[in-house]
This record gives sequence, structure tokens and C-alpha cells, in this order.
Amino acid sequence: MGKTALITGITGQDGAYLSEFLIKKGYTVHGIKRRASLFNTDRIDHLYQDPHLDDRNLILHYGDMTDSMNLTRIVSEVQPDEIYNLAAQSHVKVSFDTPEYTANVDGLGTLRILESVRLLGLASKTRIYQASTSELYGLVQEIPQKETTPFYPRSPYAVAKMYAYWITVNYREAYNMFACNGILFNHESPLRGETFVTRKVTRALSRIALGIQSDVYMGNLSSKRDWGHAKDYIKAMYLILQQDKPDDYVIATGVTTTIRDFISQAFNEIGIRIEFKGEGSNETGEIAAINTPVFVEKIGESYLAPIQKRIGEKVVKVDPEYFRPTEVELLIGDATKSRTQLGWEPKYNLDMLIEDMMANDVKNMKKEAYLRDGGYRILNYFE
Ligand code: NAP
Ligand code: GDD
Repeated sequence: MGKTALITGITGQDGAYLSEFLIKKGYTVHGIKRRASLFNTDRIDHLYQDPHLDDRNLILHYGDMTDSMNLTRIVSEVQPDEIYNLAAQSHVKVSFDTPEYTANVDGLGTLRILESVRLLGLASKTRIYQASTSELYGLVQEIPQKETTPFYPRSPYAVAKMYAYWITVNYREAYNMFACNGILFNHESPLRGETFVTRKVTRALSRIALGIQSDVYMGNLSSKRDWGHAKDYIKAMYLILQQDKPDDYVIATGVTTTIRDFISQAFNEIGIRIEFKGEGSNETGEIAAINTPVFVEKIGESYLAPIQKRIGEKVVKVDPEYFRPTEVELLIGDATKSRTQLGWEPKYNLDMLIEDMMANDVKNMKKEAYLRDGGYRILNYFE
């Protein structure tokens, strides 16, 4: 008999990669998805199975982290060996607009999961992974950050996650539960939500190169992040729950990069050299050189994309609207404990991550350009 896992946040970036990974390992995966007015299962549609089939290995349940009774019923029905608590309002900037909701989902939501396991008498059976975050380090007290570095959260999101971190530790100590925190630094992928900085950049650059969009407005270009690939990071989640003893682990690459340099490297991927000029909200990124001609495909032919004519033009601009009331300027992790105790090692470096994300978005945007300029206009079809 394979193990049974319950994943909250299964429709998100990490939930999608983790489900696929666990199914390949022989798990039966249950996931909690929210009711939405549109389909919200794009990232896991390739794993979907008809509910009428016997022996399914992916089963979805409607639920919400704010609904204790619903969560308790699902945990009771599933009787999971492992719970991966990934559900969250995970956008830091949005948490300043929705602080109470974020606290409810990200903070109390974790308590609801822990308490349901305890009340259902599953404390000795069910292992729990809590999706903790490098945002806890906020105004960093030590460089690089490791498991013993003091926390200094800088957003309603991080404060809510701080509650979740400590309530996980508390349930471990108070009730002997196998409850663990993975303190994950930023991890990205082609499945990353479109409003996080890396995906916003790879989407916008692909559109600019193909002439669908003229420029992109960004926030703080100087902050630094330790970026890894989500495919590597979900493996760490699994390893954390396979240990003999519950514990907390930092997962990071140990390399940090500014947003500005991420943008330059992403432009390089499509043969464009960019130069940044000016400071603060007046900073701009101009096209300095086009090293490789960029082609757009159209039915039966290809032509030079409009980007070719744009040397000297400002394609990256700053809009202070994207600045945060309190910023996390620098994150860089020390994952020595994970490497030595879990045997975890990332396969992707930043170059490989950017290559993967750009290739995916250029492909997506080519499709969009084709539909706009191709043999028929898809919009007319729906008008
Ligand atoms: P994500 O793509 O934003 O996914 C979040 C998931 O949570 C989605 O499935 C979302 O559902 C679900 N969700 C949101 N509110 C919910 C609610 N009220 N009830 C039930 N489900 C809800 O995030 P991710 O990047 O996969 O990250 C996974 C977890 O790791 C999050 O807890 C995040 O805070 C944490 N984390 C992420 C990173 C990172 O760099 N990615 C680093 C450290 C920690 P919908 O699809 O319906 O929106
Ligand atoms: N989103 C966004 N959009 N961020 C921008 C932009 C922009 O236009 N311009 C600059 N930034 C800067 C932000 O100010 C921040 O310093 C950095 O880019 C990264 O922002 P995000 O990609 O939104 O991620 P985050 O670091 O705030 O949070 C992510 O990582 C955390 C782990 O450290 C999220 O995935 C969190 O859920 C996760 O906990």
C-alpha cells in the first residue's frame, strides 16, 4: 500500500509540482481546492482523473483554509500519512492590502490543520509539513540566513507566517507531533504566479521581444533574492517528512541576485543587451544592443520582430506603486543543514532557471502573437 498525502494549496505552483512528484512515488494524493467562478486547476489538469474511475491517485476536495469544519472533515475522511500545508495568500505586496485575510489564511489556517489532526487522534500517525518562508528573516539580522538566525518579519504576510512557524513548533513540542517547517527561500518556475517578479519579467520580456507589449513597469530594482527552481524545492519538502525526527530546515541556493540583474539576464536569453540608467523611480532600462535577431512566426513564414528597430528605447521603467511600505532588501540562505542532514542538493542554478522560464514564456507569447497577427483574429471569432 502506498502512502496517502493531503496537500493544501494543490492548485498553486508548489502544489502542482509536489503532486506530480508524490504520485510518481506511488502516493495517493488528495488536494484541497477553492471554489472559484472559473476553472482554477490549470496547473494540475494533466494529473486529473475522472471521479468515476476506481483506483484514482489524485482526488480533489473543495475547501478553504478559513473553514475549520471543512478542513477537519477532509482530514477525517482522508486519514493522511502526510499533510503538506502549502495553501496561503502568498503575495507579500497584496498582504498589505488584505492583512486580516492574510493572517486568517496563512496564520490561523495552519493552526486549523494542526488542531484538526490533534482532535481527530491522528497526532501519532500524520506528519505535517508547514510552508514557512525566508520572508521571516525580513530585516535580516545575519548574512547569510540559517535556521538559528532571528526573525524580523516586514509584512503582514511574514507576520502571519511567523505565527504559523511557531504554532508548528509548539504543536511538535506540546503534543509530540511530527510537525516541521521548511524555511524556503524564493523558488520560481514556468508555473510561477504571473504577478511575482520573476514571472512578471519573463512574461513581459517575451511580449516586448515579439512586439505585443512596448515596456514594463517595475518596483524596487535593487532588492536581492536567493532564487531556486520549484522542482528542486518540492523534493526538500518530501525529504523533511521522511526523517527519523521532526525538525526545521532552510532550503536555499546560497546565491543572491538583484532584480535588475535578473532582468538583464532574462533579456540576454533572447539576445538583447540592456543598460540601466538613472536612480530610484527615474531609473530606466534601455536596449543597448540586439545580438541575435528575434523572429516572430506567422502562418507559413517568419519575420523579424518589431523589437529590432528599438535600440536606445526605454523598455524597463519604474512605477513607485509597486514599492512596498516596508521592503525586504536582501535574502541569501545557508542550507548547510539541509545538505548534510537531508542530502538535499539543488539541480538548477539561476541561469538554468531563467532559461527554463524564458523558453516557456516565449513559447506562450509566440502563440499569442500568432493569434493576434495570424490568418484569423481570435477576438473577432468571439465578438
Ligand atoms: P501559490 O502559487 O500562490 O499557491 C498558493 C495556493 O494556496 C493556491 O493553490 C491557492 O489557491 C491556495 N489558497 C490561497 N488561499 C487559500 C484559501 N483561503 N483556502 C485554500 N487554499 C488557498 O504559492 P506557491 O508559490 O506554490 O507557495 C506555496 C506555499 O509556500 C505558500 O504557503 C507560500 O506562502 C509558501 N512559500 C512560497 C515560496 C516561493 O518562493 N514560492 C517561498 C517560501 C514559502 P488558488 O489557486 O485558488 O489561488
Ligand atoms: N511582485 C513584484 N512585482 N515584485 C517586484 C516588482 C514588481 O513589479 N519590482 C520589484 N519587485 C521586488 C519586490 O519589491 C521584492 O523585493 C522582490 O522583487 C521579490 O518580489 P516577489 O517576486 O513578489 O516575491 P517576494 O520575495 O516578495 O515573496 C515571494 O517569496 C517569499 C520567500 O522569500 C513569495 O513567493 C512569498 O510567498 C515567499 O514566502
